[in-house]
Amino acid sequence: MSAIETIASGTQLRQRLNAVRRSGGRIAFVPTMGNLHEGHLTLARQARQHGDCVVASIFVNRLQFAPHEDFDCYPRTFEADQAGLESCGVNLLFAPDERELYPEQQHYYVQPPAMADDLEGAFRPGFFRGVATVVLKLFNLVQPDAALFGKKDYQQLMVVRNMARQLALPVQIVAGETVRAADGLALSSRNAYLSTQQRTQAGNLYKGLAEIARSIRAGNRDFSLLESDLLQKLDKNQWKVDYVAVRKQTDLQLPTESDRELVVLTAARLGTTRLIDNLEVSV
Ligand code: PAF
Repeated sequence: MSAIETIASGTQLRQRLNAVRRSGGRIAFVPTMGNLHEGHLTLARQARQHGDCVVASIFVNRLQFAPHEDFDCYPRTFEADQAGLESCGVNLLFAPDERELYPEQQHYYVQPPAMADDLEGAFRPGFFRGVATVVLKLFNLVQPDAALFGKKDYQQLMVVRNMARQLALPVQIVAGETVRAADGLALSSRNAYLSTQQRTQAGNLYKGLAEIARSIRAGNRDFSLLESDLLQKLDKNQWKVDYVAVRKQTDLQLPTESDRELVVLTAARLGTTRLIDNLEVSV
């Protein structure tokens, strides 16, 4: 296996990828903020099915963090990430610094629609604007044929997919399944913030979603009750819940009686660590 090539400059990246394109190669892209876990690495392996050249990026994007959030202490583990990506057969790692992606103050943004002000957007104003802006910028630099995003960030996946469709971006958006620990906890870079005791509790977030999914499959359509039951249960066990919501998979709107393709989404905090998760349910 050839060693991964790491590039920090956007111009060099473009030149390198033009050569791939000229020789008829397809490019698959996995954007990340680093501190990679098995969820990212699974996407990186999956990317090989979509491209002859697999590109990953590591860039902690200041634009998607609110001032009180964890931008400064977001775990940066570059060497381990680089080795992990290499072991998954990633060909090129784009690792720009802030001056490369934001050489001047960013005045032009991608403003996502109202759907992005709900759920995560309601608790992290500006988050999806920051994500959509950097993803478009990365797409412009990499010009991938396919880009892979994990379903764990379900609303992010939807925002990116809609942006690609509405702005006619020539890229196929591919969704990767959430990778979970043995107790069901969705893998996330932020799990590293949990104390041992919180980590034991953290598995209950997924268990709660799974219980709602079971109940819906058994015919329960009282979504408000299912949501508030889980909210109360978590509340009693050290969690501070932002939301538990049953939505339509297609557009994350409230389901009607006839909707069958659903997703249960949640965000909740254990101490200062905010975890998100979701589970699709088809009935
Ligand atoms: O999911 C992430 O890691 C980030 O939001 C992304 C898509 C790399 C944009 O910064």
